[in-house]
Amino acid sequence: MGRPKKTLKKPKLRVKKKLVEKVRGMHDILPSEMPYWDLFLDAVEKTTATFGFSKVETPILERTELFQRSTGENTDIVQKEMFSFLDKGGDDLTLRPEGTPGVVRAYIENGMHTYPQPVKLYYVGPMFRREKPQAGRQREFHQFNIEALGSSKPVIDAQVIFIAWKVLKKIGLNNFEVQINSVGCRVCREQYREMLVDFLSSKKQRLCIDCKKRLKKNPLRILDCKNSRCQEVVNEAPQIIDYLCDECHNHFKEVLEYLDEAKIPYNLNSKLVRGLDYYTKTAFEFWPTSEKASASQGSFGGGGRYDDLVEIMGGRETPAIGMALGVERIINYLKENRERKDLPRKKADIMLVQLGDMARKKALGIINTLMDNGIFVIENMHKDSIKSQLRYASNQGVRYALILGQKEVLDKSVLIRDMQSGIQEVLSQDNLAIEIKKKLNQKN
Ligand code: HAM
Repeated sequence: MGRPKKTLKKPKLRVKKKLVEKVRGMHDILPSEMPYWDLFLDAVEKTTATFGFSKVETPILERTELFQRSTGENTDIVQKEMFSFLDKGGDDLTLRPEGTPGVVRAYIENGMHTYPQPVKLYYVGPMFRREKPQAGRQREFHQFNIEALGSSKPVIDAQVIFIAWKVLKKIGLNNFEVQINSVGCRVCREQYREMLVDFLSSKKQRLCIDCKKRLKKNPLRILDCKNSRCQEVVNEAPQIIDYLCDECHNHFKEVLEYLDEAKIPYNLNSKLVRGLDYYTKTAFEFWPTSEKASASQGSFGGGGRYDDLVEIMGGRETPAIGMALGVERIINYLKENRERKDLPRKKADIMLVQLGDMARKKALGIINTLMDNGIFVIENMHKDSIKSQLRYASNQGVRYALILGQKEVLDKSVLIRDMQSGIQEVLSQDNLAIEIKKKLNQKN
């Protein structure tokens, strides 16, 4: 508009050719994967709502000591897998390798013992473990966790298992099984531990190097060592289930009765001890049963009671139970079984198709009106041709296309096209939302 033309010289960008790549073991989650995540998260929201779980978020960064004291000094996680560092102020911090310690800290620190008990919480978020990256094993991965603090009743154990089971079923996973055990309380487990150490010490020469070390520090973990020679020894070892005290025995029996009533199949697995220190009584895992998935990626999830942990961490006596599902492992497995195009998706009601510069300029205003009236409208304003825009509308499965060309802009009208019949009619731009809503309701 009468402005003198200036041609400026474009300065050269200073480019370094080498890409700064992502950190080993970390992953980008691309839009093409999101339908699987949405499916999972939708099942999580619906299932937790039925049982009155509220969403909680705790920090990803916590003090290293939190995990040392709760996850356990002798666990693989604390010994080998934590991303820990001194920050610039000298604080010893860790990217959370699991969520339970943070939630227990938050329960104590925020006085949640004054809330109606049990306090039922859930969260979905990233965890960090510096493991050797391989199929199903990442250094950053996501978990869906639930934690119920403040109840010792077996029905809560069954509820926690039920929720995980139901989420997996809801998204269409069938090839998995529940493995369950009781690891006893600190009284009966201590007695069992002594028996086990006696037994295993007599067979020490047959154990692998790691298990020889575990014999001193963490003998129960020998029970789930994958080494075949250790397994032979373990098969002859006393089983914890025979050493449970009356209270633990009755608790476990009741949990199983609830699962029977809910028709959740399970396998009693006396070798299941889990890799974290805080478990008491019920311990369980969800294992894939397809050969491919079980060989490549391990359990979908696991959890158990942690009746002593709140007290160990400085709170009052608070029985608790929780579990976590590994989202990436589940989605990897799901991808093998369900095609993305078959996943449910929310379809738009209508697509605005625009032709020519004049119409394109008006398009956002019309979209704004439709959105304000609760109509789910989509667009493809990057495209010019009507053909490609209508093709997009049809791929997206919308019922109507709203066509706006130069003539319509001048007439203050639009063409509405029924995507199934191809029949078109003219609508005025006045009261457009009302007319569209009428049409959408007629079709319902
Ligand atoms: P966990 O067994 O250590 O339990 O982890 C739960 C799930 O997280 C595993 O079954 C697996 O699906 C997933 N997972 C673990 N490590 C990785 C990894 N490196 N890459 C991909 N997925 C992984 C816990 O974390 C407990 N905090 C669960 C709990 C909550 N117990 C009581 N409350």
